Amino acid sequence: MGIAVSPQIHPQVAEFIDKPRKMLINGRWVNAASGKIFPTYNPATGEVLAQVAEGDREDIDQAVKAARNAFDSGPWRRMTASERGRLIWKLADLLEQHTEEFGYIESLDNGKPLNIAKAADVPLAVDLFRYMAGWATKIEGNTIPLSVPYTPGAKYLAYTLREPVGVVGQIIPWNFPLLMAAWKLGPALATGCTVVLKPAEQTPLSALRLGELIMEAGFPEGVVNVVPGYGETAGAALAAHPDVDKVAFTGSTEVGKLIVHAAAGNLKKVSLELGGKSPNVVFKDADLETAIPGSASAIFFNHGQCCCAGSRLYVEKSVYDQVVEGVAEAARKIKIGSGLDPETHMGPLVSEEQMNRVCGYLESGFSEGAKALVGGHKGGDRGYFVEPTVLVNTKENMKVVQEEIFGPVVVAMPFTDPEEIVPRANNSDYGLAAAVWTRDIGKAHRMAEQLRAGTVWINCYNIFDAALPFGGYKQSGWGREMGHDVLNLYTQTKAVCTRIA
Ligand code: NAI
Ligand code: MG
Repeated sequence: MGIAVSPQIHPQVAEFIDKPRKMLINGRWVNAASGKIFPTYNPATGEVLAQVAEGDREDIDQAVKAARNAFDSGPWRRMTASERGRLIWKLADLLEQHTEEFGYIESLDNGKPLNIAKAADVPLAVDLFRYMAGWATKIEGNTIPLSVPYTPGAKYLAYTLREPVGVVGQIIPWNFPLLMAAWKLGPALATGCTVVLKPAEQTPLSALRLGELIMEAGFPEGVVNVVPGYGETAGAALAAHPDVDKVAFTGSTEVGKLIVHAAAGNLKKVSLELGGKSPNVVFKDADLETAIPGSASAIFFNHGQCCCAGSRLYVEKSVYDQVVEGVAEAARKIKIGSGLDPETHMGPLVSEEQMNRVCGYLESGFSEGAKALVGGHKGGDRGYFVEPTVLVNTKENMKVVQEEIFGPVVVAMPFTDPEEIVPRANNSDYGLAAAVWTRDIGKAHRMAEQLRAGTVWINCYNIFDAALPFGGYKQSGWGREMGHDVLNLYTQTKAVCTRIA
């Protein structure tokens, strides 16, 4: 099993993927109750990478029991906030020490270049844990002056407590497997919740390795449980589980809506980080030397498999040809290959399914009259590669302009009147991110105010920070992850009122 152990592969990773990976329930590594395993694939070759225990309803049930127990009666709740913070910080240190190893796991399981995983995915996850470690001791309530009209003369001491929401189910996608695990686990642990994490079936390996580091760091058993498995089985069971207090989901808008329905049974709290079709607007007064590479990276980073990808490129007419040709030229220079090859700029898409989905969108675009200035095809003769693609001759009502493609495909469209661009940019069911490139600072901030998106980047793109809240307007989701906003997703407020006179 596993892929041939080549000298290229980090030895610990080769060992890690060589035997079937178990799931983490109540501090122990166990097989699925059914005994089933499922394969994950190396998307650069299409070959089986590793075998993983296939969690289902029964395993989710065991994991929720463990998390419930850890929340209700384990040592976790008796720990001080400072102790919780130190454990999270220790996890960050351990993760940082294993940067190389996690880089390989992400590259092999997801397809992304090793160098990018090591420079972006792992350090961002480390930083997120450190940022959240700091919050553990700073989650505070308020004291509130009361003026109760029907008890004249009475005095009260009233205050609020911010308490952890409880047992949290977390369902994450495959585009940033480790980082999405960190975004979810960091705030849950900082606030004192307990977790059942279900990684994506395409990319379960880094979450399982992280589970080992979580135990090594010294988190009490049952605080974090990791149950790999498919969405329709393990994921659905977690979302519907009556003993889960909150579900946090990142993935497709379609499944996000299923999660909301599943959560209705016990009215568990829900937070959602869903799809996007983010507008990237380049004005003629922009510094094109940064706007052109910035717009290319807005769509091609992570092979376009970003919920916030700048997938609708709007360019003011007088610079349209220059900008779009510049982005196409950048696409031509992208070297596609295995993520482990240091020369590679762009690896494969995560799965055959995703490759076929993206190619289906290309076909749909061509049939509606779009043209590819560059790319437009599947790449390579094995693995799940798609060429970086710039589509022109595109119209607002085309499927490729309306729907999330989630691949390295940008649709480019000119605009003439700066007044027309706001309604066009906002003409989407989504509202995750948007960007504006201009040297006119007043215009930039007027645009920022008018764009209906959870993040607006000005003269930059894909800038993420643990301190910066991220999340969607409209059908891009509910709630904000990261920053102090995320604490609201994992705590609930209790009002305490005492009569003192
Ligand atoms: P998905 O939404 O099906 O998968 C995301 C996670 O949800 C995975 O862990 C999956 O196992 C789980 N899941 C699937 N069905 C479920 C269910 N019924 N109940 C509970 N959990 C369930 O996304 P998929 O199919 O991998 O990709 C489809 C499209 O979704 C992509 O083309 C892209 O447009 C979008 N997507 C958006 C992401 C984002 O970051 N916002 C990430 C991944 C996909
Ligand atoms: Mg799906």
